[in-house]
Parts: sequence; structure tokens; C-alpha cells
Amino acid sequence: MNYQNITLEIKNRTALVTINRESKLNALNRDTIAELKDAVNQAETDESVKGLILTGAGQKAFVAGADIQEFLGKSKEEAQAMSQLGHDLMNKIANLSKPVIAAINGFALGGGLELALCCHIRIAAASAKMGLPEVSLGLIPGYGGTQRLTDLVGKGKALEMILTGDMVDAQDAYQWGVVNKVVELYELEETAQNILDKIYSRSASAVSAAILAINASLDRNVDGYGLEIRTFAECFGSEDFTEGLSAFTEKRKPRF
Ligand code: COA
Repeated sequence: MNYQNITLEIKNRTALVTINRESKLNALNRDTIAELKDAVNQAETDESVKGLILTGAGQKAFVAGADIQEFLGKSKEEAQAMSQLGHDLMNKIANLSKPVIAAINGFALGGGLELALCCHIRIAAASAKMGLPEVSLGLIPGYGGTQRLTDLVGKGKALEMILTGDMVDAQDAYQWGVVNKVVELYELEETAQNILDKIYSRSASAVSAAILAINASLDRNVDGYGLEIRTFAECFGSEDFTEGLSAFTEKRKPRF
């Protein structure tokens, strides 16, 4: 696929995916969502890629939301299809077997915050601002925000953020648990890469299994405890487990 709205660069075993519509503050239109899905699929199947960083082009915005222009004149059926497309992308990222970090370089609003929320880890620049302002448009979040924000910060804070539609700064977002870490803008990509490098030094199969089991905790249709028991047991059959135990016994670093 030839990308018009994003860039995909593979370096240091990481797929760096940059949403690249700076003049529209990287708003997610339909084409951008399709390109993101393609890039995530590519990163998933490329064995040289061990993890992903998602970020926005420029210094102003990560993603300032779904593209509001595309809302104009949409029927309820079309709106449902549009929401479903966003959900498909966000679910794909949330359930990816490789770690995904959102490097939030500026405004992460509406669908932009929802994109960050579906990533496994969020690092924000100190200058970033985040919010779900949909109620000011007569809408509610439609790409998983009502669920994922609530999972992260609890019902009380999620209600406050979504009902007021207010933006929060990076420090408040950190204190509330929306983001894992706040750094200066110039340190953002390096910080995300450092976290990925740490994860790459661990067992990739165990990392995938952990993502699966943690995600199960949020799925009301799955017995998360049961899945953890099965997934834990499956690790015993892996080469990485053999290597991890040998390394521990031989008092050396594991070679995964
Ligand atoms: N969808 C489509 N276009 C968007 C957009 C979005 N979500 N967010 C910003 N843009 C566009 C603007 O329309 C403008 O385009 P133009 O130059 O062709 O008019 C351009 O990006 C720059 O935005 P602008 O509003 O001029 O920048 P600003 O610095 O004055 O304000 C924001 C920045 C983020 C506060 C403001 O753009 C904003 O409120 N955006 C919408 C946020 C939102 O409601 N997101 C949820 C959508 S569900």
C-alpha cells in the first residue's frame, strides 16, 4: 500500500508509524485509518519488527481527533460503519502480540486519545494536551474511549473527562493514570525506544502471552483467571522458558 497520510519507518527493530497530516493536526480520516491498519498488519507480520511506536508529525498534535469534516451528512448507518472501522483498528492494536507505545507529542483529542488509549503504553511530551471533547460536538467517543479510558482511570475520572469534554495537561494525565510517563518533547521517541529495548531483552513469547492475559481482564466474555492459568502453562513448552531457566541456573543473562 502506498501511504499518503502516514509514514512507516523500521529502525532499531521498531516500526515507527507517524500520522502525517500536519495541516489538519493529524486528524484521522477514513484513508488514514486504512493506512494505519495496513501498517500495523505489516509490522505484525515482519519478523524483523519487535515492537511499534505510534506518533504524530510535527510538534503540535499527536492526533486532534477523528476528521470532523467526514462527519458531515453521515446517516446513522454510515456513522455506525465509521465507528466500527475505528474500533477494528483500535482492537487490532490493543490485541497485537508485539508491544505498541503511543508517543504523544501534542494534542491527543477524541479519536486521537482513543488511538493512544488502545496502545499498550503511553508516553506524553510535557506540552501534550489530552481529552475526549466529543460532547461539545453533540457526540460521545466512538473509537472505544468510553471503555478504555474508564478501564485506565476508573469511572469517576472517566465521567469527569468525558462529560466536561475538558482537556488535561500531561502532568494531570500522568497523575490520573492516562499516561505512563511524561518527558520533554525532544526526549519522546528515545524514551519510547528505551522502553521497547528493555521489553526486547525479555522473552518475546512471554511478552505476547502477558498482553493476551492482561487484555482478558477487560473482556467480560472471557474468564481471565482461567486464561492466565492456561497461558502460564503454555509458556512451559516454549524455547524461551528453557533458555530463561538455564540462564538463571547458570547465573548469566538469557539469550532470547
Ligand atoms: N478534524 C478535522 N480537521 C481538524 C481537526 C479534526 N478533528 N482538528 C483540527 N483540524 C484542522 C482545522 O480545521 C484546521 O484546518 P484549516 O486550517 O483547514 O481550517 C487545522 O486542523 C488547524 O486547526 P486549528 O483549529 O486552526 O488549530 P488551533 O491551534 O486553533 O486549535 C485545536 C487546535 C486542537 C484546539 C482545534 O483544532 C480543535 O479543537 N480541533 C478539534 C478537536 C476535536 O473536537 N476532536 C474530536 C473530534 S471527534
